[in-house]
Amino acid sequence: MRRTGVAALLAALCAAPATAAPPPAWKANCQVCHQADGQGLAGQFPRLAGRAATIATKPAGRAYLAAVVTNGLAGRITVDGTPIIGVMPSFATLSDRDLAAALSHAARGGTAAPFKPAEIAAARTTPMKNSAMTELRARLVADGTIP
Ligand code: HEC
Repeated sequence: MRRTGVAALLAALCAAPATAAPPPAWKANCQVCHQADGQGLAGQFPRLAGRAATIATKPAGRAYLAAVVTNGLAGRITVDGTPIIGVMPSFATLSDRDLAAALSHAARGGTAAPFKPAEIAAARTTPMKNSAMTELRARLVADGTIP
């Protein structure tokens, strides 16, 4: 009987769905604002879940996401029809690997490939002022890259 119980427990554990536990870099650096699943907080922190997955399907979108984490972003944006006037600091002090892992978590669930550390390294070679970030974002909203 005990054996059966253990076997049943093992079977149940093996059948459990794979957990989508956030990577440590996300938990330590992003979750406090964007929340565990990237769902954000309306009017305060933009939802990334579902949105980053779309943005990351286009090369320009991927470069934008890498630029956000290496430069930060401040000012007024509109997400899900709600304005957000916020400040996201730069996370340039984190490693390429950690930033790639954090962005991959934000962009999961769609068809976009996970981020490679090289994509973060590429963003670092072109530091951008906030005015340039704001212009870039507006362009990507206009052409449909950013929902
Ligand atoms: C202190 C809170 C805070 C933390 C921590 C934070 N963010 Fe943000 N993030 C924001 C805010 C606020 C914005 C919107 C900025 C604005 O209003 O211009 C934003 C914007 C973004 C955007 C752009 C969204 C868009 O629609 O253009 C991405 C991508 C992003 N964050 C990813 C991350 C990742 C990845 C991390 C962790 C490495 C992180 N954020 C950590 C507050 C935060």
